Amino acid sequence: MVMMPDVVYRAFKSLETKDAKVIYMSPKGNVLDQEKVVKLSKEKHLIILCGHYEGIDQRVLDEIVDEEISIGDYVLTGGEIPAMVLVDSVSRYIDGVIDNSSLEEESFSIEGLLEYPQYTRPEIFEGKKVPEILLSGHHEKINQWRKEKAIETTKKKRPDLYKKYKKKEENS
Ligand SMILES: C[S@@+](CC[C@H](N)C(=O)[O-])C[C@H]1O[C@@H](n2cnc3c(N)ncnc32)[C@H](O)[C@@H]1O
Repeated sequence: MVMMPDVVYRAFKSLETKDAKVIYMSPKGNVLDQEKVVKLSKEKHLIILCGHYEGIDQRVLDEIVDEEISIGDYVLTGGEIPAMVLVDSVSRYIDGVIDNSSLEEESFSIEGLLEYPQYTRPEIFEGKKVPEILLSGHHEKINQWRKEKAIETTKKKRPDLYKKYKKKEENS
């Protein structure tokens, strides 16, 4: 079963504005990443189109869609959950949604690296201590430690991102 073009087109027409960018959530699109999320957060108006069943008639896609975005290389039943992923990730960059400082040191935000490990109270949990340096109050050394841990974590968990980071470092 394929969604009919005229129905989708009428829905689009009822929402269209001159600034609208139409995104079709689709496994055939480019896979969403943080860079794209930040770019989309600067758009004035996003219209998100979700398919169901086999998808949507190609003619209306050709007519109205600016970009196809996937949330990963797997197939879901419909585009609603991918749309929620997009809305959640993009809206975090809209003023007033969350504290801006929370965005600055997250995974993918610091030179494309994953975030360093986080700790909170208690100081000792099941015999494991919070790293001494984090209790020192020495901000420069703490920042240095965090950078090293971010690099180490990225190298271990996402060698693909680490490779990109190294390449950028070498070219800078
Ligand atoms: C069952 S899927 C259709 C799959 C399509 N026949 C194909 O093989 O590429 C139905 C709808 O779910 C959404 N969808 C499924 N997987 C997705 C993904 N990985 N990313 C974004 N949207 C997805 C799309 O809107 C799609 O039109």
